[in-house]
Amino acid sequence: MQIDIITLFPEMFEGAFSYSILKRAQTKGHVVIRLHNLRDWSFNKHKTVDDYPYGGGAGMVMMVEPVVRCLEELRSKTTYDEVIYLSPDGEMLNQPLANQLSTRQNLLILCGHYKGIDERIRTHFITREVSIGDYVLSGGEMAAVVLTDTIVRLIPGVLNDETSALSDSYQDNLLSPPVYTRPADFRGLKVPDILLSGNDKEIAKWRYEQSVERTKQRRPGLLSK
Ligand code: ADE
Repeated sequence: MQIDIITLFPEMFEGAFSYSILKRAQTKGHVVIRLHNLRDWSFNKHKTVDDYPYGGGAGMVMMVEPVVRCLEELRSKTTYDEVIYLSPDGEMLNQPLANQLSTRQNLLILCGHYKGIDERIRTHFITREVSIGDYVLSGGEMAAVVLTDTIVRLIPGVLNDETSALSDSYQDNLLSPPVYTRPADFRGLKVPDILLSGNDKEIAKWRYEQSVERTKQRRPGLLSK
């Protein structure tokens, strides 16, 4: 998979993409993530990318020309399955959407900033708008990190234990069961006996029941899906 990210702040991604699963996925060649600084497509020496909104009002708007010049150059070399704009107005990111996007070959992600991007970009060049939650971030970069992480960990071969992503919370609309590791007794706080029993069938049953119980208590809406 290839993920291209257009941003005004490529440095914001460096830490997030340099550790753990996202790093390993790149090193092992499961994903190529390319960061593109929008200012490189500015049309003047001041590297302008934003301007005042027509009709007045607070905040700046990302201009159509640098974004479209950048999109056109990238699209001349790669055919993208989706051109995604991160925005609080977008469809809500959830596990089914992450699953769907993880099957794509090439994704292009545009991070907005300031008051947003010129509407003409949204109507003519963006194929999908995605929100990571009902709150407003200062820009799309954090959301792009979240989106990239949820997608990349689902690419076959990225996780060591292939079944591990399948048992994640939300894969079956169930939250994950509790997990424990050594010691079995920490200052009197004990690990449930069933997990020490060695009975795989009973352990699987217990985990399922715990998942259902936890989901009922914390996110009952998921059970009706
Ligand atoms: N940009 C600003 N807020 C956002 C959100 N909640 N989701 C995605 N992109 C955003």
